[in-house]
This record gives sequence, structure tokens and C-alpha cells, in this order.
Amino acid sequence: MNKSTTSRSAKTFRVAGLPGDGVGPEVYQSARQVLALMDACFNLSIELDEQLIGGAAVDATGNPLPQATIDACKSADAALLGAVGGPKWDTNPAEQRPEFGLLKIRSTFNLFCNLRPIVTHPTLHAFSPLRPERLAGVDLMMVRELTGGIYFGKKWREADQAEDVCRYTRSEIERITRAAGDLARQRKGRITMVDKANVLETSRLWREVVSQVLEDEFPDVSLENLLVDSAAMHLLTRPADFDVMLTENMFGDILSDEASMLCGSMGLLPSASLNESRFGLYEPIHGSAPDIAGQGKANPYAMLLSVAMMLRHSLDCTNEAEALEHSIYRCWDEGILTPDLGGACSTTQITDAVCERLSSSANTAG
Ligand code: IPM
Ligand code: MG
Repeated sequence: MNKSTTSRSAKTFRVAGLPGDGVGPEVYQSARQVLALMDACFNLSIELDEQLIGGAAVDATGNPLPQATIDACKSADAALLGAVGGPKWDTNPAEQRPEFGLLKIRSTFNLFCNLRPIVTHPTLHAFSPLRPERLAGVDLMMVRELTGGIYFGKKWREADQAEDVCRYTRSEIERITRAAGDLARQRKGRITMVDKANVLETSRLWREVVSQVLEDEFPDVSLENLLVDSAAMHLLTRPADFDVMLTENMFGDILSDEASMLCGSMGLLPSASLNESRFGLYEPIHGSAPDIAGQGKANPYAMLLSVAMMLRHSLDCTNEAEALEHSIYRCWDEGILTPDLGGACSTTQITDAVCERLSSSANTAG
């Protein structure tokens, strides 16, 4: 971005771009193309500082989260990640696995609040394994605690035994509950908290703290408790009943993949991982999909919806986020889809289609 262009823009932001592995670079390229258009369409300049993460970083530096990447994130307003992982690194020791880079960026930047919106769209109902009548009106926000629990507890391994400790503190539960409470207030005012309180001590602490925080600070928000096994079932039998679903790290990981199938494909789900300042890491939930990498058929919609979440949550550009989302929904209505949704469009064809609709909506508005 040259200086004269930057200075003409009303708003200027810096974003750390982390393409990563597998289909990551392909969907990242799609985000880049859309972001480049933001200047012309909305006078919004987004400078991308591209850095290594995951397997690509292991190959280049031996470290899945190099210091240069951390530094770039520190001086950025947000980070945009494609995906990490792949069979090539599966036998690496834990700290040289691509996923370790992702876990480390989450913990380094305190990204404790993971948001995964699950919204079904009528045009895509046919692609979900569920019957359409169950899918109507589904609009739930999965709020997953992202920097605690079994993912980050003490771990050890001997030849014939291993242990992963699941630990949570009161303050970790309080802050994610407040985030969920704030969100519920902007939505339908309902929280379903998911745990395994009939077995796990951490879950019993969660129940105590969540109900206390909601009672004291969010008396207008209602609370329902579900055990995780039953939540897995209720997500299929009554998905439209949920508003905000609040849960600890691993249950949220599992339930969000399950919930993604309500929308028709994992290739449609964006996510935001936020800390207490405005900084956030934005990524599609689908992962690196090594089986289809390099074939030009990766679904870029989850990444583009992640860009919209970034515009909304970290850059405070709500109108631009909405314009992008509407361009995406228009493409869905017009059947512009990748093979995972029965379509024949390539990643780049979809990106071009979204860009065309975005430009024409900006021209109409302007
Ligand atoms: C996710 C992913 C990650 C997780 C992996 C890649 C470490 O599955 O973001 O849901 O388990 O959190
Ligand atoms: Mg996952």
C-alpha cells in the first residue's frame, strides 16, 4: 500500500495475515482480494502484514509460531488466519506441530473468547443432513472458552500411560460468562450452558460461577443448563431453540463441528477469537483440508464471513461487514457454490462473484 493511497483513506488498519497450511493460503488469497476492494468501495484501507504460522512456519524456521509473527500481531489491529495442519507434520513432537502455533497464538494474546455463529440460510437447507423444518430459524452463537481447560493443562506421557489435566479458575469462568452475557443481551437474552456436571469437578465450578455471575450482573438474561451428551442430541432435535451456547474449551470444539452441519458445510462457518481489548484472531473453522488442498475447490465463504466478523468486532466497521455479508448471501441465493455444497464453482470464481456484488452494492450506496 503506498502512502498516498493510505492517506486518502478515511480509515486505516493493519492486519497480520497468516495464510498457514493446506487450503489456508487459498482461502486467505480470497480474503486478500476482498480486502483490497475495501479501499475503492468504502474508503477503508487495510494493510496486510503477511507472516508464517503452522506447518509452513515449521518448515521455514523450525517453530510453528515464530517471533516475527508474534511481533506482527502485536502491532496489528487484528489477525486473519487461513488454517494450520496437515499429514506432513503429524509425527512431529508436540511443540513442532502446526496446531501448537495456533494454541500458542491463542494463549499469547489471551484470546479467551471464541465466537462461532451458526446461522442457517434457507437456500442451503438442502445441504444439511437435517430435515429443513428443523433448520428454519436457527441462529445460535457458540461461545467457547478458548485458553483454559484440558487444552492448556499439565500434560505428560510415559510409554504406557499419559495424562492431560483439565483445570479452570473462577476468574477464567467469570470473564467468559460476562462475554456471553453481553452477547445474550444484544440477542434474545438466553444462555444455554453446556457441561458435564454429573461427572466433572471443573463443570461443577462452571455451574456455580456462571449462575452467580448471571444472577448478579445479568438478571435479565435467562440460563438453561445442559449436560454435554444431551446438548449434542438437542443440537439435532431442537437447534432453533438456542440463542447463546456457552461452554468450556473442548466441549465447544466438538459441539461447534457438530453444529456446523446445520448450515450445510463446515466451509461456511467463520470464527472470532477475542481478548479483553479489541484485538482478535479471525479464522474459518474448517481447518486445512489437505485432501482438497491445491485443487482450487476450497470453499472461501467461511473465510470471507470471518473477514466480516473482523470488520465488525476489531475494526468497528459495521456497515462494511454487513455489505460483505449481504454480497455473500446474494451469491448463495444465486447458487454460486463450491463442490462441498453441490456446486461447480472454484474458489476464485466465488471470490470474483462476491467482489462484483460488493462493488455494485457500494456503487449503489454511494
Ligand atoms: C478448532 C480446531 C483447533 C482446536 C485445533 C486445530 C487445535 O479444531 O479451532 O476448532 O481444537 O481448537
Ligand atoms: Mg475444532
